[in-house]
Amino acid sequence: MQDLNELRAKIDEIKAEIASGVLGLKSSKAVYEFKKSFLDPKAGKISQLMKEMKNIPSEARADFGKGVNELKNWAGGRFDEMDEKLKAAEAEARYESEKIDITMPAKKIKVGNLHPVTQVKNQLIDIFASMGFEVFEGTEIETDYYNFTALNTPQDHPARDMQDTFYLSPEFLLRTQTSAGQIHVMEAKKPPIKVISPGKVFRSDDDATHSPMFTQMEGLVVDKHITLCDLQGMLNVLVEKIFGEGTTTRLRPSYFPFTEPSVEVDVSCFECGGKGCKLCKGTGWIEVLGAGIVNKKVLENCGIDSNDYSGLAFGIGVERLAMLKYGINNIKLLYESDLRVLEQLND
Ligand code: PHE
Repeated sequence: MQDLNELRAKIDEIKAEIASGVLGLKSSKAVYEFKKSFLDPKAGKISQLMKEMKNIPSEARADFGKGVNELKNWAGGRFDEMDEKLKAAEAEARYESEKIDITMPAKKIKVGNLHPVTQVKNQLIDIFASMGFEVFEGTEIETDYYNFTALNTPQDHPARDMQDTFYLSPEFLLRTQTSAGQIHVMEAKKPPIKVISPGKVFRSDDDATHSPMFTQMEGLVVDKHITLCDLQGMLNVLVEKIFGEGTTTRLRPSYFPFTEPSVEVDVSCFECGGKGCKLCKGTGWIEVLGAGIVNKKVLENCGIDSNDYSGLAFGIGVERLAMLKYGINNIKLLYESDLRVLEQLND
């Protein structure tokens, strides 16, 4: 049996060992191991002291037990304290090592964009859809009848010379204008009619501002009491959305066989605000589209009573709008597929 004094000295010894030992611990894992060496129920040094209880004279037992318990509680406190301190330091170190530098330049992700002509076309569709227009897409190959004759442009009509046509046969051709779609719509639908018809058209024409293939967007409204005022009101909304607030339109007399009266629509120069600049050639106005009141003959060709109904029609050149919007002066830039150019023509 061990001497009682020796055991008491052992309590002090263990206490001193813990007091200095914990200070040297460098990690929470080391704290755990160190703690185990004292408190492990089997091998722990303090647990072993407890086991000596049975060998101690009963009158000293309570006193000794109290000493060991105090040691145990005190040791537990020291271990917890150290554990907490080291865990906090470890968390701090981890945060530091995992820190994200939000000022670091991000990896650039290259995304494509829609072709500028498609972007403008979509923008037009959105604007007209918001005014209640439906979209009708015609075909690129048309008959002479739909492209010309039904539009009050019979075979020998001088207006056929306005557009240099690609004929596929005496009957079939590549449509020169989306106006051909007007006839299909009016044949298929009774008024009220409110449609736009975007699509490719073809003309044997080729210079800085003309391409043999380009895009038009036809507009057609047929109802009771439709006038040029309705046309201009709608177009004013349109140009403000495309070129910005304050942009307006003016109508100039023109000629198209399928509209009467016919107008050329100018938009107030969004570059100089109307004062006159290079873009508007000093006039303050830029021509953007052709339009008019649907010729009664065209309505009648489609079986619509021109005494009851009237209509308005317009044809927008989408490339022309895109060129104005993006400030480019050669239509070929839109079709050469040079990505260095196309990447810049993006909203
Ligand atoms: N189709 C005409 C053109 O291509 C434009 C237009 C459409 C004019 C509708 C009046 C009405 O030049």
